[in-house]
Amino acid sequence: MKPAKLHFWILGWFSVALCCWCTSETFTQSDIRSHPWKKLYFAHHWPVTVCKMNANDCHDPPKYWTIHGLWPDRAEDCNRTWHFNVTEIKDILSDMRHYWPDVLHSSLNRTQFWKHEWDKHGTCAATLEVLNSQKKYFGKALELYQHIDLNGCLLKAGIKPSSSYYKMPAIKEALTRFYGVTPKIQCIPPEEGEKAQTIGQIEFCFTKELQLVNCVVLEGESNPMQAHFKLGTSELSVCNDTLPTYYPSEVQGHK
Ligand SMILES: *[C@@H]1O[C@H](CO)[C@@H](O)[C@H](O)[C@H]1NC(C)=O
Ligand SMILES: *[C@@H]1O[C@H](CO)[C@@H](O)[C@H](O)[C@H]1NC(C)=O
Ligand SMILES: *[C@@H]1O[C@H](CO)[C@@H](O)[C@H](O)[C@H]1NC(C)=O
Ligand SMILES: *[C@@H]1O[C@H](CO)[C@@H](O)[C@H](O)[C@H]1NC(C)=O
Repeated sequence: MKPAKLHFWILGWFSVALCCWCTSETFTQSDIRSHPWKKLYFAHHWPVTVCKMNANDCHDPPKYWTIHGLWPDRAEDCNRTWHFNVTEIKDILSDMRHYWPDVLHSSLNRTQFWKHEWDKHGTCAATLEVLNSQKKYFGKALELYQHIDLNGCLLKAGIKPSSSYYKMPAIKEALTRFYGVTPKIQCIPPEEGEKAQTIGQIEFCFTKELQLVNCVVLEGESNPMQAHFKLGTSELSVCNDTLPTYYPSEVQGHK
């Protein structure tokens, strides 16, 4: 190799090294605005538990896991001028109502829940070409929902709503065996005087190529972006492996 070439070769590697260094984990407010997110959290929630958290306007919650949202990590409200427009998703409205219902406001035929999800998360997800319109964002989430088929998975594993308790590691193992990756499982912690936590949300993690990956979380930790999903007095947090776990079939009627 001639000295000049060697020089470029070294310079080349030096730039690569520099570049890796400059995109490392630290991020600032301006990074958030330019939304360099890396992972998508695809959250399903259990409507009965959501209603237990705030039963004000919950009527007859669905007895299947529904979509909560599709969330880029580390980015929120990325484009405040890109307004939600329900007409854009008119072709998928019946699936939206069925699989992505506003569990907390079931009697109101309204679209605020989808607007909120679009404004806060969809406008950030839209940096991906496959998600860069409202139709694509909501449509892709519905597609992922069918593909993941969490309801089918739990049923096959014999994990059904019940008045007896589950062991959290058993639920975790069943899901990990089925999907080959570890989802993030969230619960409402035991109330005063109770011993069991209540399962409420299961999140799957995806790369930007929409491949399933492990959600890496430490027990007791919350995702910084969705740290405090709080309704009424209850708050979801990562389930505790050692506590008995309730998977309720009814909003009321458990002591
Ligand atoms: C925000 O959304 C509007 C409307 O879709 C679009 O014209 C504009 O380019 C977007 N801005 C950015 C920074 O992506
Ligand atoms: C909403 O979307 C429809 C269909 O794309 C479009 O015709 C309409 O102008 C949009 N409305 C607003 C307020 O942007
Ligand atoms: C809810 O609204 C949609 C259109 O926005 C309409 O097609 C549907 O019939 C409404 N349902 C009820 C129960 O009012
Ligand atoms: C899990 O629950 C046990 C028993 O209540 C408690 O001792 C432990 O600190 C909890 N772990 C976390 C990470 O909250």
